[in-house]
Amino acid sequence: MPGDKSISHRALMLGALAIGRTEITGLLEGEDVLATAAALNSLGAQVARVGDGRWTVDGIGVGALAEPEDLLDLGNSGTAARLLLGMLATHPITAFVTGDSSLRRRPMGRVVEPLSRFGARFATREGSRLPLAVSGAADPIPISYRLPVPSAQVKSAVLLAGLNTPGATTVIEPQPTRDHTERMLRHFGATVSTEPDESGGLRVSVEGFPELTAAPIIVPGDPSSAAFALVAALIVPGSDVIVEGVGINPLRAGLLECLGEMGGDIALLNRREEGGEPVADIRARAGALAGAEIPAERAPRMIDEYPILAVAAAYARGRTVMRGLAELRVKESDRLTAIAVGLEQCGVGVAVDGDDLIVEGVGNSPPGGAMIETRLDHRMAMAFLVLGLAANEPVRIDDAAPIATSFPGFVELMTGLGADISPLRSSPPHAGEG
Ligand code: S3P
Repeated sequence: MPGDKSISHRALMLGALAIGRTEITGLLEGEDVLATAAALNSLGAQVARVGDGRWTVDGIGVGALAEPEDLLDLGNSGTAARLLLGMLATHPITAFVTGDSSLRRRPMGRVVEPLSRFGARFATREGSRLPLAVSGAADPIPISYRLPVPSAQVKSAVLLAGLNTPGATTVIEPQPTRDHTERMLRHFGATVSTEPDESGGLRVSVEGFPELTAAPIIVPGDPSSAAFALVAALIVPGSDVIVEGVGINPLRAGLLECLGEMGGDIALLNRREEGGEPVADIRARAGALAGAEIPAERAPRMIDEYPILAVAAAYARGRTVMRGLAELRVKESDRLTAIAVGLEQCGVGVAVDGDDLIVEGVGNSPPGGAMIETRLDHRMAMAFLVLGLAANEPVRIDDAAPIATSFPGFVELMTGLGADISPLRSSPPHAGEG
């Protein structure tokens, strides 16, 4: 599996804020992470590729980011944009940030609002969209911020801003979200506390002005990428696949819970810890699946896995109800709509009821036979290719280019497992990018 995207971004960013040389192995070399690497080079760190997945970062220390000479273009990556804005918000420099047409549609108000409280100033397009200009605070004020939406990106942006701020910066999260930033901050020597909040959530605090020290990082395989191979194995008859070295951080593992409840034959083998994150080899074998009720409280632990869960649900016997999916509307595409439209085109019964998605599973191979619009969304592209593997008629996607943002070797890996995925003779120009 390619390296975890969330952890790869954070390894580069914290490496840039540490003193000394951070050596990273297993870095995801997808477009999103490469955008972060380029932005950090523009901010004065030295990020270099030294081998396959092996990178070094010569950090400059908290407080030492240099003003970039040109626009920071973060491509398709919401994580890169929001976490970097957190870092920039408490450095007294001005930066101009943009991204592709998908990222330019996504809401940045969710970070602009808390980061303004540190004293940073922003000029954004209508609706707090990119491109935007940020002028970081010269004398930042620490904040205590309750997340209005469960978002690890917003939590991380605030914690990163807190690094170059005196005193303690606190985020209160009503529902726990992925904690890679907290784990890695501790790994680099910062003081981070996580304790239960009286409201039932979590209170995460970071002490300002830490001396971050370079530390080696081993990036585990990405569970969000592994999800495609695992679901493919469950729904293609006769399959038996082991995906090695996958991160199983409990705050990312919601999909495995769902697939288990649906009767999927999934086993975690060789559990271990690598670089401060729990890791396992995961075995998946094909078999019958049954529909399930997926509670809203599980959404933050599997937020990127709904497209592929919906594919498993299409194959399962009976109804699957996935509740509380409002956040899916503001991902790389409006995934709630995109999943529903795609499944319907593939002959699967589907409905959106408020923020819930209801899939009427076929109990066997779904019809397929559709052309799916991928909308600059890598996970939509991969999920519907996986549906095609188990469908009666081939599924086509209009644009495979977005897959490279998170999983550059996806087609080769799936082909190696026996999938028949091939380019269409004439593909349309890259959607939206001209
Ligand atoms: C991520 C957090 C999630 C997730 C994204 C990666 C991160 O976004 O969807 O792919 O690395 O922190 P939100 O924080 O917006 O939920």
